[in-house]
Amino acid sequence: MSVSRLNKLVFLVLLIVLFHSSYAQPWKESLEEWIPKEMERSFQGIFYNIDPPGGIPGSVTAADSHYQPDYYYNWIRDAAITMDVVVTLYERATEPAQVKKLEDILKSYVHYNYIIQRTPNPTGNLTTGGLGAAHYLLNGSAFTGPWCSVENDGPALRAVAVMRFAKEYLRRHGDLSYVKKWIFNNETHPPTTVTRADLDYIAKVWPDPCCGPWETFFVVHFWDQLLVRKALLQGSKFAEMLGYMDASSYYLKQAKELTSNMSKFISHVHGVVLESIDAPRDTIHETFMDTSTILAVLYGYNDDGFYAPENPYVMNTANLLRLIYKDLFPVNRRRTTDEGVLFGRFPNDNYDGIATGNGVKGNPWFLCTLGMARYYFELAKRFSEYATLNISSRWMLPLLEHLQTSYFKLNPSMPSTFHVGETLQKPQLCQIAQALLTEADKILYSVYRHVPDSGMLTEEINRYTGFEQGAKNLTWSYDSFVTAVWSRNYSFNTFRTNCVLV
Ligand SMILES: *[C@@H]1O[C@H](CO)[C@@H](O)[C@H](O)[C@H]1NC(C)=O
Ligand SMILES: *[C@@H]1O[C@H](CO)[C@@H](O)[C@H](O)[C@H]1NC(C)=O
Ligand SMILES: *[C@@H]1O[C@H](CO)[C@@H](O)[C@H](O)[C@H]1NC(C)=O
Ligand SMILES: *[C@@H]1O[C@H](CO)[C@@H](O)[C@H](O)[C@H]1NC(C)=O
Ligand SMILES: *[C@@H]1O[C@H](CO)[C@@H](O)[C@H](O)[C@H]1NC(C)=O
Ligand SMILES: *[C@@H]1O[C@H](CO)[C@@H](O)[C@H](O)[C@H]1NC(C)=O
Ligand SMILES: *[C@@H]1O[C@H](CO)[C@@H](O)[C@H](O)[C@H]1NC(C)=O
Repeated sequence: MSVSRLNKLVFLVLLIVLFHSSYAQPWKESLEEWIPKEMERSFQGIFYNIDPPGGIPGSVTAADSHYQPDYYYNWIRDAAITMDVVVTLYERATEPAQVKKLEDILKSYVHYNYIIQRTPNPTGNLTTGGLGAAHYLLNGSAFTGPWCSVENDGPALRAVAVMRFAKEYLRRHGDLSYVKKWIFNNETHPPTTVTRADLDYIAKVWPDPCCGPWETFFVVHFWDQLLVRKALLQGSKFAEMLGYMDASSYYLKQAKELTSNMSKFISHVHGVVLESIDAPRDTIHETFMDTSTILAVLYGYNDDGFYAPENPYVMNTANLLRLIYKDLFPVNRRRTTDEGVLFGRFPNDNYDGIATGNGVKGNPWFLCTLGMARYYFELAKRFSEYATLNISSRWMLPLLEHLQTSYFKLNPSMPSTFHVGETLQKPQLCQIAQALLTEADKILYSVYRHVPDSGMLTEEINRYTGFEQGAKNLTWSYDSFVTAVWSRNYSFNTFRTNCVLV
């Protein structure tokens, strides 16, 4: 037997042993048991909040919470994230009745959004910036109270979800004339279709400041920029597919300009992606560290190498967020060795799910914590797929060293330190992928430990007590659970294919 075959065999045995031993742990078993139950509960929660009482078909309430806090509105952002989950279900559906049901929901969503795009509101109307409104009443009326406006992530997320729907609808031999009547044509001004209105809007306003994912600061946010970029690039292809070449090249031109202006979010001193660069100092955003940068990668990565999950600055940001939250929240300081860290929005958050202001302390959020788990699943998938990987930047080292300390200490096949310029080979990449899968599962396990038996997800987890807090049945929390578990499944399958059966 040659040395390399022997190495391969040792590697295989080691992987199998590692894989099985990790499964024999009781925390893993509780997690495996809980996941399918919580998936079912999450789908219930999602569909409960679509077309809720008082809403017209196609509306989605952000939460089943009318009071303290009142989230009983259709937020453009949250609804689009929800419909993106529905589109995935639609893509996977095989039963004709199920296909029809999901298609009807998605068409209602398009129609509800056609109505609200044409509903003048304090932010403007269809042609004067009204698409930047954060939310609408579920019955389609404008929200007229005070609120942070403008929000540009909503139209970007909505465009991506609707284009995904349209592509799948056409693949299933849907009617092209439906797509051109309701979703996209470039034949009128002002636009008469939902996605054309969104794309024209973001192609124009992308350089401007807006409220960001948390509706707290009026600056240019990394989150909005990456989401708009993806929507414009996909919009360019979509317009081209439908034969609208002018519109296609216009969106592409804007996307390119935006792209070339996005390096400003990198801090070369700290090796991180900054949430914004123009927030005033001495404010709650003074650290510029924000979990939304990682969420931006999850929702806004366009599969083209630009701010990919394995970007060294993104990896280091994820690691630094872990270091921040592990000490910041008392509930994290008490966690067991099987539990990962619970993540909040940003370190100085002063909203606790009901109150906001001086002295109020922010909490861990389900959608942030589940987003971080999903990030590690995505990263694990990519490490499983590489044949080799160069450690191209020192900003990859902190996360690799964390994995080293946590998982490889007793592993003779792993180096005790990593170096810039070193090329990692398959066996090492698979070890790292497996450590990332465990890291992600530990975060999911910590979520499990804070969810009651009913499976109901709120917005937040109290930073001291660990009990749920804030809006009940928060739709985006359920969306985040579902997408994290989908990534988990995909990532474990990729790992099995690439790492055990090399
Ligand atoms: C949450 O959603 C479930 C259905 O999934 C529903 O039965 C329940 O009444 C909702 N509201 C609250 C406050 O739990
Ligand atoms: C939007 O408002 C502007 C300025 O008030 C007005 O000129 C325009 O006709 C309005 N557009 C629509 C579509 O209502
Ligand atoms: C929607 O509900 C609000 C508040 O209940 C009401 O004032 C408004 O007239 C309703 N709009 C429509 C279109 O029914
Ligand atoms: C690009 O970013 C810089 C720095 O924030 C800003 O001054 C400039 O206006 C931006 N360019 C565009 C086209 O928005
Ligand atoms: C199509 O789109 C381009 C770019 O948005 C625009 O310049 C052009 O006028 C549009 N054509 C029509 C007929 O609306
Ligand atoms: C990795 O680094 C080696 C040595 O520096 C170099 O020869 C190789 O081209 C690099 N590979 C990639 C994919 O960058
Ligand atoms: C997991 O992935 C496999 C195939 O990759 C698929 O058959 C299965 O339905 C997936 N499970 C979930 C929960 O998504």
